[in-house]
Amino acid sequence: MYSPLQLAIKYLKYYFSSSNGKGHGIHSPFVYSFITEVLNDKRNFYAYDKIEAVRKQLLNSEKELIIEDFGAGSRKGLTKNRKVSEIANSSLKSKKFAQLLFRMINYYKPEIILELGTSLGVTSSYIAAAKPDATMITMEGSPSIVSIAKDNFKQLQLNNIKLVEGNFDETLSITLSNLQQIDFAFLDGNHRYQPTVDYFNQVLEKSNQNTIIVVDDVHWSKEMELAWGYIKQHPKVTLSIDLFFIGIVFLRTEFKIKQDFVIRF
Ligand SMILES: C[S@@+](CC[C@H](N)C(=O)[O-])C[C@H]1O[C@@H](n2cnc3c(N)ncnc32)[C@H](O)[C@@H]1O
Repeated sequence: MYSPLQLAIKYLKYYFSSSNGKGHGIHSPFVYSFITEVLNDKRNFYAYDKIEAVRKQLLNSEKELIIEDFGAGSRKGLTKNRKVSEIANSSLKSKKFAQLLFRMINYYKPEIILELGTSLGVTSSYIAAAKPDATMITMEGSPSIVSIAKDNFKQLQLNNIKLVEGNFDETLSITLSNLQQIDFAFLDGNHRYQPTVDYFNQVLEKSNQNTIIVVDDVHWSKEMELAWGYIKQHPKVTLSIDLFFIGIVFLRTEFKIKQDFVIRF
């Protein structure tokens, strides 16, 4: 992974080279409505406060978990015993990005949603709450983390989440084989080149032209930047949006020329 200084420099480059959607530069009506109606939607949805209250509980939890080492780990390093508060502090998507995912689900209305990397279930809760009649499948390898996530789903009364426990390398293909299609996928676990590319390709096999795939931490490390490069260049991808902390790809066939946007958020 990049050092905090390297990341900060990359972020500054992103910040000053990205478009904010105002003025010239965004000629795509689809991207323009993504910016104005989803990205910059400042409404406070009902679910936000309830889920943020759960995040707060987790941030204050002194409970210790024994964690198995999955994927590329978090910035704080991998230890066997970790406090829930530490995990909540280092592994979860921030409020800003989790709420963006909520708005994307609310706006594009996917029916079948997949998240790789549940962790404590905060982002899964946002996704599931945005469309209670959608099927939300979230996957996590660590049993002790799974049990906390399940408690959170219960507390938030989210009944549309199916949590698949186990290593993605074993569980993903079985899970996908039982699904007709994936409309929205959030790849947020095992931040290394080959696994990310493999998971992306597996999800693509169940995609349709409306499928949206969000990849987390696309500038977190050299490997993730390479994986993001691979994903953006994939022939099925017709539009990519780079928000620095996440990358979003669309597969819509109505876009005849592939376009890559870097948008400030
Ligand atoms: C960054 S966290 C997910 C955060 C969550 N999406 C959120 O924003 O609230 C990544 C999670 O993926 C899990 N993970 C990583 N690699 C995995 C693998 N190969 N199989 C199963 N779980 C894995 C880790 O245990 C960790 O809990």
